[in-house]
Amino acid sequence: MTTATSKGLEGIIAGDTQICSVAQGDLIYRGYEIHDLAANATFDEVAHLLLVGHKPDAKELQFFRDELIANRALPTQVIDYLRAAKPMLKEGTCVPMDALRTAVSILGNLDKDSQDNSPEANLRKAKRLTAKIPTIIGHMQNIIDGKELIAPNTGGNAKLSHAANMLYLMTGEKPSPEATKTVDVSLTLYAEHDYNASTFTCRVICATLSDMHGAVTGGIAALKGPLHGGANEAAMDMLAEIRKDIGPDNDPAKIEAWMHQAFKDKRKLMGFGHRVYKNGDHRAPILHALGRKTAEQKGAEFVKLFELGEKVQQIMLDEKNIHPNVDFPCGMTYYTMGIPVPQYTPIFVAARVTGWCAHIMEQHANNRLIRPIATYTGPALKKWND
Ligand code: CMC
Repeated sequence: MTTATSKGLEGIIAGDTQICSVAQGDLIYRGYEIHDLAANATFDEVAHLLLVGHKPDAKELQFFRDELIANRALPTQVIDYLRAAKPMLKEGTCVPMDALRTAVSILGNLDKDSQDNSPEANLRKAKRLTAKIPTIIGHMQNIIDGKELIAPNTGGNAKLSHAANMLYLMTGEKPSPEATKTVDVSLTLYAEHDYNASTFTCRVICATLSDMHGAVTGGIAALKGPLHGGANEAAMDMLAEIRKDIGPDNDPAKIEAWMHQAFKDKRKLMGFGHRVYKNGDHRAPILHALGRKTAEQKGAEFVKLFELGEKVQQIMLDEKNIHPNVDFPCGMTYYTMGIPVPQYTPIFVAARVTGWCAHIMEQHANNRLIRPIATYTGPALKKWND
């Protein structure tokens, strides 16, 4: 047994997985490399690959899609909760990630398989969660906007893909093929990432033989933090702050001065750095290219945002040798698409729930309690009555 401590468990191999490889140079989902998936697979196919375990043929894909579509609508109890959360969302004591976490927990209270951890029940629950999370995001946004819910009886439009339907539920408008493609690819990029903090959280929870909804609820709480999934919102907030501070002209000298002050203040720049990828995150250039294309279609204001982001990236690389992670282009891309910033991390959940559920099923299939030990650094032994 090792007794050395690794702060943040850096470099510790905490288990095996057949779902994803991050550490070996490429990002691979069940044997398929991420560039290949982003270019050639849809998120619906990737979700099948992760959850069912293999690339679907046409018939399997149709069946899988039909199952997701049939499960999109939310129970009234969840809609009632989202309505009740509106004042808290307005007040800011609750942000969309918190409301999503509670909504998923309520889904667990209502799921007929909630206490069944068998592989069959877990797969049914995984599909229901995957189907319903975009509907929670869409209805929550409708409620925040003070609008009627879009398609509450069906959870959307059966003709639309998972990504397109999520955008439709948020806005009531069918997205363009380009917008659909951009969000679809972002979901594929976000779907899975081996033992990242939120997935590890899910595995720790379900390794006690607790249930899938509980584990996913914990996963959402872990993903919310700005050092993890919350970085896509924080990255956009940071760019907005830079724009506010330096003005609209993207003056390189002002950007450099802002960055040098940030370095002096020892600020963490959101959307940069990664525990595993020290030479760059494979996903970031893929999303950057798509987001920039969208910006070029949308107009000068958005191109300027990308130019600002590119300058910030260059300074980080030149002066700190730190690369952007996927959350940096994600912030700019979702902003360019008009998605409200507090929904960026919930959209990350809509993708990562597939990875989480795949890991929960893998853990339950070959379980052992996850229980590490700590090095005690507290006071020396003393007597209570001394
Ligand atoms: N801004 C400024 N300095 C940084 C950053 C950053 N974003 N990232 C790392 N560093 C510095 C860090 O302070 C440390 O400096 P020093 O040696 O002087 O103390 C050095 O780089 C090495 O850091 P590290 O040990 O590689 O960092 P870590 O592995 O403990 O943390 C991280 C990884 C992702 C939490 C961190 O890079 C960070 O806080 N980034 C900003 C938040 C972020 O973008 N998170 C998204 C992560 S990836 C996708 C996802 O999960 O959503």
